[in-house]
Amino acid sequence: MIQLDFHPAGRHFLQIPGPSPVPDRILRAISYPTIDHRGPEFGALGRKVLADIRKIFKTEQPVVIYPASGTGAWEAALSNTTSPGDTVLMYETGHFATLWKSMAQSLGLKPEFLGLPGIEGWRRGVQADMIEARLRADTGHEIRAVCVVHNETSTGVTSDIAAVRRAIDAAAHPALLMVDTISGLASADYRHDEWGVDVTVSGSQKGLMLPPGISFNALSAKAIAASKESKMPRSFWRWDEILEANKNGYWPYTPNTNLLYGLSEALDMILEEGLDNVFARHQRLAEACRRAVRAWGLEIQCADPAVYSPVLTGVMMPEGVDADAVRKLIYERFNMSLGQALGKMRGKMFRIGHLGDCNDLTLMATLTGCEMGLKLAGVPLAGSGVAAAMDYLTSHAATAPLKAAA
Ligand SMILES: Cc1ncc(COP(=O)(O)O)c(C=O)c1O
Repeated sequence: MIQLDFHPAGRHFLQIPGPSPVPDRILRAISYPTIDHRGPEFGALGRKVLADIRKIFKTEQPVVIYPASGTGAWEAALSNTTSPGDTVLMYETGHFATLWKSMAQSLGLKPEFLGLPGIEGWRRGVQADMIEARLRADTGHEIRAVCVVHNETSTGVTSDIAAVRRAIDAAAHPALLMVDTISGLASADYRHDEWGVDVTVSGSQKGLMLPPGISFNALSAKAIAASKESKMPRSFWRWDEILEANKNGYWPYTPNTNLLYGLSEALDMILEEGLDNVFARHQRLAEACRRAVRAWGLEIQCADPAVYSPVLTGVMMPEGVDADAVRKLIYERFNMSLGQALGKMRGKMFRIGHLGDCNDLTLMATLTGCEMGLKLAGVPLAGSGVAAAMDYLTSHAATAPLKAAA
């Protein structure tokens, strides 16, 4: 039996880059009684979350909500817009971009994978000029879609989505633009309409502070038109039936009622704080975290300061240090989970999540756990990252006060 009642003193620090800790306010909302998903109260809930989620994607266009993890929403994006044998241009920023490419292969698409060689590509964002050059060469317009990851959770690198849009426009290419912001949404600035994205894919368990289990496709008129031509077999993921039922706040099947209560609460919390304040809070905490890493004398995985992730920081270990052993020690000694390195980076780094329901003291406790763990693991440190982060946080006030003045 799994010992779910195992409870060491104090709370667990879930500092992986998603799932992120779920605030009590959201947990309470999720515990409301499950209601009839065809009844009037549900319709009101459905209409509210469908309207408010658009504000988070910054779109006036429909957002489809699936009772699925982010991987399902990836499949929905591809299967609604493409046909078997279509070429899709994907860009290797890290492990998640690689998994999305594997999915495209499984669906019978022909993915072309652009990227910088070796781990260099995992340390920088999408190079829009490479996308532009490839699209210009595609004079027959064989490429159906360009797919990129906005916040690469495996590395802590973001990508400039507006630049990708400009690259597609500069090449005067009709490809759809699809973006995975599963770990970026509601933590990093994101603008579905302004950036001309055709399908944005996201999930619940990161910036939205919900448990895993719901995911999203934000659409464009061009994507909806493409779905009418697409020959890819699909049923559960079909946008048309969902969009029809959504008009009245319902779904064609049983939706995830209790997670939708949670979503409603999360949207209220984010909109009360204000999206810009949410983004500024993430940027400030991320900067404090990076200062800590530099003070330790360790290297940040992201090699381009212009695209540092506000969501997580990848911390590279010195040669010969097993990052997983450090993580294990921190987990066992301090009851804190840090993100494991994935794919090409396995064992070489760990990831500190500073997203969602995170404040100055959450981050300071996290960095303290890291610093103690690194010392215990025998990793030579140049100085105190904790002191460097404290200096930064105390000398740079948050843009929005945590509490209203008395
Ligand atoms: C950028 C990115 N894409 C896709 C996924 C896959 O989403 P899920 O695990 O919810 O299916 C994740 C999960 O962490 C992710 O971070």
